[in-house]
Amino acid sequence: MMPMMSGNRTVMSIKGCIFDLDGVIVDTAKYHFLAWKRLAEKLKINFTEKDNERLKGVSRMASLDIILEIGNMKPDDKIKEEYAALKNKWYVAYISKMTPDEILPGSIRFINDLRKEGIKIALGSASKNTPMIIRRVGMEILFDAIADGNVVKKAKPDPEVFITAAKMIGIPPEECVVFEDAAAGVEAALNAGMMCIGIGSEKILSNAHFVVPGLNEMSLQKLKEIEKGIRL
Ligand code: BG6
Ligand code: MG
Repeated sequence: MMPMMSGNRTVMSIKGCIFDLDGVIVDTAKYHFLAWKRLAEKLKINFTEKDNERLKGVSRMASLDIILEIGNMKPDDKIKEEYAALKNKWYVAYISKMTPDEILPGSIRFINDLRKEGIKIALGSASKNTPMIIRRVGMEILFDAIADGNVVKKAKPDPEVFITAAKMIGIPPEECVVFEDAAAGVEAALNAGMMCIGIGSEKILSNAHFVVPGLNEMSLQKLKEIEKGIRL
């Protein structure tokens, strides 16, 4: 579909922007890594930053499964619950000290610009800790809806989280764009039938429609140009 022209201004068909949280809005990816690394060390599993890429965007239990697979361990469900709770305890200790300084550059400016344009803003995150993080960094008022690990069941790359976010803001998937830093999240957005802008490395996010290093590189004008390029 071509963007509509109104005067000499290109009108976007994008009406909703859905943001992943960890690694897009806030720099929590490092805390997830540190907490998983601590668990891996306790279990004598060699877990590297490269392995950590596979955990991004993936739910807590699915992340634990990946680490246990690396260590070739198969504990029963009760033990797995204990490991996941331990990791979360360490993770929460980090995020409970977060401040607005840890909001990634450009996020607030870009979201405010989108809001001024009447675009609805949602969060689409696998994290059950989303409410605490958003509160700690003082961003509650910027989101029209929050779809997170507390409301969805299926982990990315399943599209459930983004479909749920789109429903919450009342915008059809084809009029939504997702901002994601994880390969699994990019797949989830594509599976939802949404446009996806990768945040981070082109190598890792090659399936996204467009990739920028961070939201500080995004603007309303750039979003319009990206959409135009994709739809022409
Ligand atoms: C995602 C992170 O946003 O949330 C994953 O990218 C994480 O690394 C997942 O495992 C679940 O987070 P939480 O806070 O519910 O353990
Ligand atoms: Mg992420």
